[in-house]
Amino acid sequence: MPDRIAPGERLIERVGSPLLSPLDGDQEAAWIEVIRKMDEVYADLLRYETDLEEKNTALEEAQAFISSVIESVSDILIVCDRNGIVLQVNPAAVRLLATPADAVVERPLGDLVDAADGARIEELLRAPSSSEIALEIRFVTAHGLSDLYAINGATRCDQAGHRVGTVLTGRPIGELRRAYEALHTAHGELQRAQRQLVEQEKMASLGRLVAGVAHELNNPISFIYGNIHMLERYRERMAAYLTAIHGGADPAEVDELRRRLKIDALLADYASLIEGTLEGAMRVSDVVKNLRRLSFPRTGETQPIDVDRIVRTAARWAARAKPGHVELAFDIAPEATVIGNEGQFHQIMVNLVDNAIDALRGHAAPRIEISARRQDDEVAIAVADNGPGLPDGMIDKIFEPFFTTKPVGEGTGLGLWISYGIAREHGGTLAAANRNGGGAVFTLTLKAGP
Ligand SMILES: Nc1ncnc2c1ncn2[C@@H]1O[C@H](COP(=O)(O)OP(=O)(O)O)[C@@H](O)[C@H]1O
Ligand SMILES: [Mg+2]
Repeated sequence: MPDRIAPGERLIERVGSPLLSPLDGDQEAAWIEVIRKMDEVYADLLRYETDLEEKNTALEEAQAFISSVIESVSDILIVCDRNGIVLQVNPAAVRLLATPADAVVERPLGDLVDAADGARIEELLRAPSSSEIALEIRFVTAHGLSDLYAINGATRCDQAGHRVGTVLTGRPIGELRRAYEALHTAHGELQRAQRQLVEQEKMASLGRLVAGVAHELNNPISFIYGNIHMLERYRERMAAYLTAIHGGADPAEVDELRRRLKIDALLADYASLIEGTLEGAMRVSDVVKNLRRLSFPRTGETQPIDVDRIVRTAARWAARAKPGHVELAFDIAPEATVIGNEGQFHQIMVNLVDNAIDALRGHAAPRIEISARRQDDEVAIAVADNGPGLPDGMIDKIFEPFFTTKPVGEGTGLGLWISYGIAREHGGTLAAANRNGGGAVFTLTLKAGP
């Protein structure tokens, strides 16, 4: 055979004429035909070879591309056949297992995972073809058990769509889990702190309530005391006078004693003293009754509430709990009732009046106007003050928990947040605004009672 023929060079030209001389015409023609055919076959062969080389290059490039992608994936990748035998692993998996790829390939996947996770891995390998399963497992590495990995299994199918195995991808979740747990703990602590603060605010409003009640009781009790002192002195004078009479003193002596001991004035005063004492006792009894009403209903229990009574009691108690005098004006529609929980309604009113009093501190003529109007099937109760009002941009913030402009120890920033929550639980609303003439107004709207 001649040397390899370059593409385009024709065999017939190489062979040359000396071959042709001993042949006759027919033979020559046949010979030329054979050579021509050979020539064609060579040309085809060459074309195929070039094609093949091109395809091979493309294939190699594609394979290199896929390998580089697989190798650069930081997640671990394990390919198994339908029996769970490992076919291929990526470098991330090799690094994790600290075992060369060829020592892993052809081993059952179950050998590579923690025995405790074996059953779950089996389940993943057997999962129906379309399902994607997520697991958290540990691998057995050359250095012992790995961190926890989040593993996803996806079914691998052939071109006909038949299941031929499973592809597992996974990433460590130790760090993520630790970060999540730290976040979870911090969140729990925050919630606990928040609950504690809400409790503190509740205790603080209870404190305000108790202070108000104490003042409320102080007045009648002190005049009951005073009256009883007077009655005791009257009793002594009366006893002296009666002893003289019963001892048989003469009429002039009795008259003199009657004047000196002011027996007539004393007798005239008796009735009003007793009446005053009784009134004091009744006021004490009213306060106690109001307190009992407030403490009886359990949270969530609703009833028709006499707006006038609760608003007045709450405002008076809140005002009494703070030093200084604030003028309270009421304009409450007669027989206005709302449906709600009396204790909670009282709490909102105490909070609103308490805030108004704080805003009015140092004011020359502090005044709070409380009104209640029925509008269709709702009652709007407004607490308005003539204080500085709410600065621009603050109206949106005041209902947020812990928002306060008061010094530490004086404000918790929870009063309005709690009040807003109670209003919402009642299906009502609580809104804040500034009044045209200055000062703030808070409007609580609740469902009207029967
Ligand atoms: N009537 C009012 N006038 C002006 N500002 C008010 C009034 N009521 C509430 N505020 C503002 O809203 C803030 C939040 O009130 P609140 O939730 O009751 O918390 P706190 O009273 O503990 O500060 C107050 O600190 C105050 O700045
Ligand atoms: Mg407050």
